[in-house]
Amino acid sequence: MSEGATVSESAFIEVDRVEKVFDVRRRTGFLRRELRRVRAVDSISFTVARGEMVGYIGPNGAGKSTTIKMLTGILTPSGGRLRVAGIDPSRERTRLAHRIGVVFGQRTTLWWDLPLIDSYRLMHRMYRIPDGRYRENLDRLVELLDLSALLEVPVRQLSLGQRMRGDIAAALLHDPEVLYLDEPTIGLDVVSKGRVREFLRELNTERGTTVLLTTHDLQDIEQLCSRVMVIDHGRLVYDGALAGLHEAGESERTLVVDLARELPPVDVGEAARVVKVDGPRQWLAFPAAASAAPLVARIAAEYPLVDLSVREPDIEAVIAKMLYSTGDAPQVPSDREASRETVVPAPGNS
Ligand SMILES: Nc1ncnc2c1ncn2[C@@H]1O[C@H](COP(=O)(O)OP(=O)(O)O)[C@@H](O)[C@H]1O
Ligand SMILES: [Mg+2]
Repeated sequence: MSEGATVSESAFIEVDRVEKVFDVRRRTGFLRRELRRVRAVDSISFTVARGEMVGYIGPNGAGKSTTIKMLTGILTPSGGRLRVAGIDPSRERTRLAHRIGVVFGQRTTLWWDLPLIDSYRLMHRMYRIPDGRYRENLDRLVELLDLSALLEVPVRQLSLGQRMRGDIAAALLHDPEVLYLDEPTIGLDVVSKGRVREFLRELNTERGTTVLLTTHDLQDIEQLCSRVMVIDHGRLVYDGALAGLHEAGESERTLVVDLARELPPVDVGEAARVVKVDGPRQWLAFPAAASAAPLVARIAAEYPLVDLSVREPDIEAVIAKMLYSTGDAPQVPSDREASRETVVPAPGNS
């Protein structure tokens, strides 16, 4: 891998003040058009080390897919500097295509009318994968993603979860060092999500594949990524440990206490505040970073405490709060783009 020799392992993906501006022409009336500039990605900087698995999250329209598209070379940045494995993606898209894999959850790289195996055969040739390696990778992926019964089935007949597993295999046949996943679990049922997550975890730990994962589903992040980046209105508003999000979002834990009988709200001063009372049960919110022990001790000393439990903060609420504090309301996923669109994979003449 001579071309990789100069690439820093700690900055395998390098994004330096990258911007993407779209000029959108909108019809506003008869013969009237308005030019609107959309700053989809606004001076973003980060690096990803080889072997890292990073979550990339944010509300709809925040700029996640645009970032991924620039990292694959599909889109050219309007400003800033971008390198993946030492390659400038938009200038050498074809060369980069041999080193990266991409999965767009809302599209497919598979040929809709062909049996799954035919898509793989086409990729074998398109990516010029050596025969031995192709067969070895195919066998492994078919086993890990449980695809053997599906290989002869036309893609159009696959369920969403089956198709997603098929797409993930397609993205990995050529042994890419980096895998970008844009909403890979969107629309999947719980069981399919679990399988995809389990596979990604194995891929990352056993093969050291660098993974950048965009998702609406915070459980994906909680189960897979120790590092998370939050993007909002094209700007990176958080980059760090998942645990740190709680602090950044000033999140709270909840102490649930069962008292011997129905009582007025427990008073423990500044330490916590009662947020709900239901018969003898009361819910107290306290800072996530604080220890619950003194709080529990105090309640036990002053009230007839029967039972208790502590609830961890909901990460979804933490992020919502964080976005509110930067002046933006979080959104519910609504961008169901056409899921039947087929995109032809990259190495061609682009
Ligand atoms: N090809 C395009 N032309 C014009 N505007 C676009 C284009 N692609 C994305 N946008 C706009 O850029 C912003 C970011 O979009 P996107 O990266 O798809 O967000 P996300 O993936 O986080 O939901 C949105 O306002 C979107 O409408
Ligand atoms: Mg998107």
